[in-house]
Amino acid sequence: MRRVWWRQAGLACAAAAMALPAAAAAPFGQPLPGLDEAGRAAFAEGRALFQRPWSDGPGPGGGLGPLYNRLSCVACHPDNGRGRAPAGADERMQSMLVRLSRPGRGEHGGPRPHPAYGEQLNEDGVAGVRGEGRAALRWLPVVHRLADGTSVELRRPLLQFRELGYGPLRGVLSSARVGSPVYGLGLLEAVPEAALHALAATPQPDGVRGRLNEVWDPVSRRMAVGRFGWKANTATLQAQVVQAALGDLGLTSDALPAPNCTARQTACRDKARAGPGVDLSASEVVRIGAYLQQLAAPAPRGDGDTTIERGRRRFEDAGCAVCHRQLLPQPEGRAPIAAYTDLLLHDLGRGLADGRPDYRAGPRDWRTPPLWGIGLTPQVNEHDEYLHDGRARGLFEAVLWHDGEARAARRRFERLPPAQRAELLAFVASR
Ligand code: HEC
Ligand code: HEC
Repeated sequence: MRRVWWRQAGLACAAAAMALPAAAAAPFGQPLPGLDEAGRAAFAEGRALFQRPWSDGPGPGGGLGPLYNRLSCVACHPDNGRGRAPAGADERMQSMLVRLSRPGRGEHGGPRPHPAYGEQLNEDGVAGVRGEGRAALRWLPVVHRLADGTSVELRRPLLQFRELGYGPLRGVLSSARVGSPVYGLGLLEAVPEAALHALAATPQPDGVRGRLNEVWDPVSRRMAVGRFGWKANTATLQAQVVQAALGDLGLTSDALPAPNCTARQTACRDKARAGPGVDLSASEVVRIGAYLQQLAAPAPRGDGDTTIERGRRRFEDAGCAVCHRQLLPQPEGRAPIAAYTDLLLHDLGRGLADGRPDYRAGPRDWRTPPLWGIGLTPQVNEHDEYLHDGRARGLFEAVLWHDGEARAARRRFERLPPAQRAELLAFVASR
């Protein structure tokens, strides 16, 4: 089923294939091998939509808002890579957003929206509609003592809301998240669901207990296994497209036709009523989804190099691969993929907790992120910041934040002599 819709899209828009960027220039922008001419054309069209800045005018490319975060998808997924957190409280969020909810459960067992602000802080509004406010991050120092006694200064974010447009945000649960990389997702979507259930049911060393999220899919209109997002809160790429379109850009679609305004946001509702039909057509949804589905992950670098191979062994010996599992299967007849994830939720401890449940993901749970391509972040995105809120300045800090189910692995990492830690991290950066 899933494989079919992008093929149809490819055939439906078999325009002249546009030139694709060279791998060296755009390591996160390459299509999977084997695309035919129609597929290449569809890929280029989807890419154009992913990069398009939307406006609030009528006609194609219109329909932005009334409330929104950024003008385009690519704004938060720069070069298909990762967003970053602001450096301080006076800098605006550029490639990051804040999810909101009230304690308790909402429709379909998901987060319960805030009555005035909904499920996400939309910082901006079109002319005549007040934005919801600003989320400002301040960084607080945290001293972390390694197993060998040396100290490292980490930082954690403190979130504050400013210039609120629709009243106070009391008693709200919030979760600040950077835009995640969007390459290789078609391969993650193709991992057979049965394999994920089997993985979740298999006892793992170190007391690791991965769990699957189960979330509402607005496209198929049923509950489904969650795979995407930092808490695996989205089931499929098509669902991700319509949810992001509405939640981040304010674009309605056939699957989510109601505007992104709460009952209290009257100017937003009035403005939304003025527009005809939905903002993102069915074929646009399919084309963006097809583009994402076709984006390859960069190939690993350094296989066979002695430092990298030693690092691989240390990564496995430390227990990192229990969650960042090298291989995941693909449908019959296709080679497994080396994404370094299990796509499962894990309790990573109090330090990383956002305190905000998301379907079955608890307040301390995060989905193991794939590590493929992570070492190209500095080259592509010109920063070196990781984890769901971008707090880690480099891969070393990212590992030091691991706790909860990942505590045993982190402690083994910390007990390694610095030269061996460096090998392990060089391996991570080479995937
Ligand atoms: C304001 C910033 C922002 C904008 C704009 C935005 N995204 Fe995202 N995107 C995010 C964040 C943050 C996440 C992680 C969401 C979560 O964990 O809940 C995400 C997750 C995703 C994912 C899943 C990635 C993964 O590895 O699981 C995809 C796919 C995606 N976005 C596509 C899109 C598309 C398509 C658009 C445009 C319609 C878009 N995004 C617009 C911030 C943004
Ligand atoms: C119990 C499962 C588990 C184990 C074991 C584990 N990790 Fe992770 N890892 C995660 C999860 C979940 C996250 C996401 C946490 C977040 O964003 O708050 C993560 C995040 C990361 C990141 C940042 C990824 C990104 O996209 O920002 C790196 C790098 C990483 N882990 C490396 C390691 C290394 C190296 C080890 C071994 C020392 C390890 N992990 C062990 C589950 C695990």
